[in-house]
Amino acid sequence: MDVKEHSTRILAIETSCDETAAAVIGDGVTILSNVVASQTDLHARYGGVFPEVASRQHVEVIHAVVDQAMRQAHLGFGDLDCVAVTRGPGLVGSLLVGMNFAKGLAVSRGLPLLGVNHIEGHIYSLWLTEVAPAIRFPVLTLVVSGGHTELYLMSGHGQYQLLGATLDDAAGEAFDKVGRLLGLPYPGGPAIDEASERGNPAAYRFPRAVMEQEHGYDFSFSGLKTAVMRQVSQYHSPTVMPVADLAASFQAAAVEALVSKTAAAAAATGATAVHVAGGVSANRALRAAMTARLDVPVRVPPLALCTDNAAMIGAAAHFHFIRGRRDSLDLDVVPSLQLT
Ligand SMILES: Nc1ncnc2c1ncn2[C@@H]1O[C@H](COP(=O)(O)OP(=O)(O)OP(=O)(O)O)[C@@H](O)[C@H]1O
Ligand SMILES: [Mg+2]
Repeated sequence: MDVKEHSTRILAIETSCDETAAAVIGDGVTILSNVVASQTDLHARYGGVFPEVASRQHVEVIHAVVDQAMRQAHLGFGDLDCVAVTRGPGLVGSLLVGMNFAKGLAVSRGLPLLGVNHIEGHIYSLWLTEVAPAIRFPVLTLVVSGGHTELYLMSGHGQYQLLGATLDDAAGEAFDKVGRLLGLPYPGGPAIDEASERGNPAAYRFPRAVMEQEHGYDFSFSGLKTAVMRQVSQYHSPTVMPVADLAASFQAAAVEALVSKTAAAAAATGATAVHVAGGVSANRALRAAMTARLDVPVRVPPLALCTDNAAMIGAAAHFHFIRGRRDSLDLDVVPSLQLT
């Protein structure tokens, strides 16, 4: 491999929730390896992430996951410039596994340590795609994930203005809760996406969360979830429930709320493009509606980079690394870490 082409190599570790992930990123934009060990099957029986089970599983597999990332990149630890790790937001026990592993590597291999905000990671997943050279600020960024629904105006690397956020449930959380109501497999997001393909999005007119302008660019999904719950309670048995129609109608309402606020913010801010990141950005209806409704280019990461991964953590770390940021070994995890 040409050393000049990849003059900065960062090993990134991500364990904020239920994915144990490690990746090596060259110069902030090239994925030299990207390994994700998902725990979804372990948590399915609980219908959500069981924190104690998550941290124990991270402990079990982190060594092998990091090892595999290094082998896939064909690199030794001596070839690295930095070890980056997610420091928050996330589950405290899960975050600590990644943080302590990264610190161990930093000490034993004499590497600088860099802590990364997980949400900034989701945002930087776009820099790992072929659109990266075309990105011009300001960019409007919608982060839609399991724990977050936030609209940021990004005016430069590391410069974020929070324009709006959910007032209650995150979009992904709403998909997961409605999935459970409809008896769909965990996690609900992909299952609703799938079921919606067979359903009529106009079968039920569910409320379009917080359309009123007094809430600016904020979102709300709890009223929508309650409306679905009320509709579901009308059916005496799950076998007579029109699951596909309910899923498609819920999805249409959730997507409409996300797209209308994003379109309004794009028009008001003069953003050059809209980026959508986080697990829910994998949703097909959301991708299609964003592209159809926005007047500026809409960019969404490939599916593998939408949900949690360490490549995005490495991409975000790169922009801090080249600006000279380094963290000390007493860096702590912050479960409710904010971006702004
Ligand atoms: N195709 C899809 N349609 C809708 N939602 C989806 C789809 N694929 C994944 N999701 C949702 O994305 C969420 C997971 O995304 P992600 O891994 O980014 O969240 P997280 O890391 O748990 O939360 P956060 O990033 O806020 O800490 C889940 O709620 C899941 O249901
Ligand atoms: Mg995430």
